[in-house]
Amino acid sequence: MVIGVPREIKDHETRVGLVPSAVAALHEAGHTVLVETKAGEASTLHDEEYAHAGARIVEKASQVWSEAELIVKVKEPQPAEYEFFRPGLVLFTYLHLAPLPELTAQLLRYGVSGVAYETIVERDGSLPLLTPMSEVAGRMSVQVGAQYLERPMGGRGILLGGVPGVAPANVAIIGGGVVGTNAAKIAHGMGAHVTIIDKNLNRLRELDDIFNGMIVTLASNTYTIAETLRLADLVIGGVLIPGAAAPKLVRRDMISKMKRGSVVVDVAIDQGGCFETSHATTHTNPIYFVDNVLHYCVSNMPAAVPHTSTFALTNATFPYLQALASKGLERACTEHPGLGAGLNTYRGEVTYQAVAESQGLPWKPLSALIGK
Ligand SMILES: NC(=O)c1ccc[n+]([C@@H]2O[C@H](COP(=O)([O-])OP(=O)(O)OC[C@H]3O[C@@H](n4cnc5c(N)ncnc54)[C@H](O)[C@@H]3O)[C@@H](O)[C@H]2O)c1
Repeated sequence: MVIGVPREIKDHETRVGLVPSAVAALHEAGHTVLVETKAGEASTLHDEEYAHAGARIVEKASQVWSEAELIVKVKEPQPAEYEFFRPGLVLFTYLHLAPLPELTAQLLRYGVSGVAYETIVERDGSLPLLTPMSEVAGRMSVQVGAQYLERPMGGRGILLGGVPGVAPANVAIIGGGVVGTNAAKIAHGMGAHVTIIDKNLNRLRELDDIFNGMIVTLASNTYTIAETLRLADLVIGGVLIPGAAAPKLVRRDMISKMKRGSVVVDVAIDQGGCFETSHATTHTNPIYFVDNVLHYCVSNMPAAVPHTSTFALTNATFPYLQALASKGLERACTEHPGLGAGLNTYRGEVTYQAVAESQGLPWKPLSALIGK
């Protein structure tokens, strides 16, 4: 199969769809890989590394799109890329189609098969291509929190781990899923006093085991959150209710009772945020203050560490890409139902129920379309 990797053109996107080691594996398996020049530059992956791995470096995006049978990307195609759509093209990328009727219409119009990273699902119901970015954001949340606690950055001037004779910082993490667990690992590793709040008692039991009782676990309710926040130096928000906006668990009056110069990092901001005082910020202007509490609410945190994020993402996408390349779209999606769940559009039809419902469109499962 001919696989194409264009350079990402969405604003602030610094990741790339494939790393050189994946190119080498595809090349060895007999596939042809075209990489647009400088596609990996923002992730510190250079053309020479891709060429060395067996890729053909091409000058123009149009060449990648027109010659490839399968395009591997990171972000949904941008309007400037719609002109490259054609019948039979397979697109493997984050699509997030529900709020994007124009992109959906273009994919349907040209009969492009869109396999969306975010709807691929494992047997246990987990979303394997969302997990790596939560791991990155969770670990990063403590790194940025520690930095903003420094006085010159606007924070209280607290060292997360304290020193002998001086207490460490109190780090409170709301939501003990992927983001929360990864945040806890880093905060605990840096010597902070860590509390995780979750509404799922079984998850708290698991966390108690994982951390061997070295962190405090608390059942989530308004009273507990308010009490914990009064003593916290750094609060990390990582709650998720799948398919819904994040619940506003932290009210304005709780923020106003926090210590002056304490820091909140609302990782859940991409779902609206779990602090009433949160609004999305960017890497260019990441912070603002409410009641003397520093807020960091960047909605695409992994973009700050594109090298790590690209490797984390492609580690997770590669097995699915290998299946698509070696078996072809229909066989790969039929033999791997989890991958099949990623198919959102196929031959001019929507094949993912939630996308169809959100846009008032009809939909058909892949099984009803194969061989049509
Ligand atoms: N800002 C970014 O750059 C970025 C990057 C990656 C992920 N995220 C976001 O981070 C959020 C968390 O992702 P995740 O992968 O950790 O999700 P997850 O499903 O693994 O964990 C969410 C946790 O929240 C808990 N929860 C739900 N309601 C709660 C409540 N009322 N009180 C306490 N806990 C509650 C759940 O029990 C679960 O343990 C998501 O919104 C995700 O989109 C943001």
